[in-house]
Amino acid sequence: MTQIDPNALIAAARDAARHAHAPYSRFAVGAALLMEDGSVITGANFENASYGLSLCAETVAIATASAAGRLREIVAIGVIGGAMDADGKATGTTPVSPCGRCRQVINEAAQMGGRDLPVHCGAAEGDALRSYRLSELLPDAFGPADLGIN
Ligand code: THU
Repeated sequence: MTQIDPNALIAAARDAARHAHAPYSRFAVGAALLMEDGSVITGANFENASYGLSLCAETVAIATASAAGRLREIVAIGVIGGAMDADGKATGTTPVSPCGRCRQVINEAAQMGGRDLPVHCGAAEGDALRSYRLSELLPDAFGPADLGIN
């Protein structure tokens, strides 16, 4: 069983946020997925000049895990975000939690892996941390099980 260290996941999410492509919002988000074997898969938000096509950090990370055939191996998620400074670094001490669409995307991984995933929400700077289970962020979720998929 992999030991979950929220602070290590938050640190990985902060590193990932350095790769945010967010020239429009200037708001960098990083996400880190702890995998069953202790490895970490990350993602950062990837915006588009056609704004509505932008992808959130959590979605990028989970799609990366899926593309590696590892969707069922996710055991915990960390996310941070904040307004970018002049160097493109996320700033701020307020924890960021996943948007509604990302909660639904996280649910796909959660149900496929059979876990009520811990979601650790940190800030770009400082120690503030809010930890949830996905079922708190997205109660009564619709997911693969509703379509007979597991
Ligand atoms: N964003 C994320 O990456 N994840 C979230 O859960 C909330 C929002 C991104 C989308 C956009 O690039 C920027 O943050 C501002 O909304």
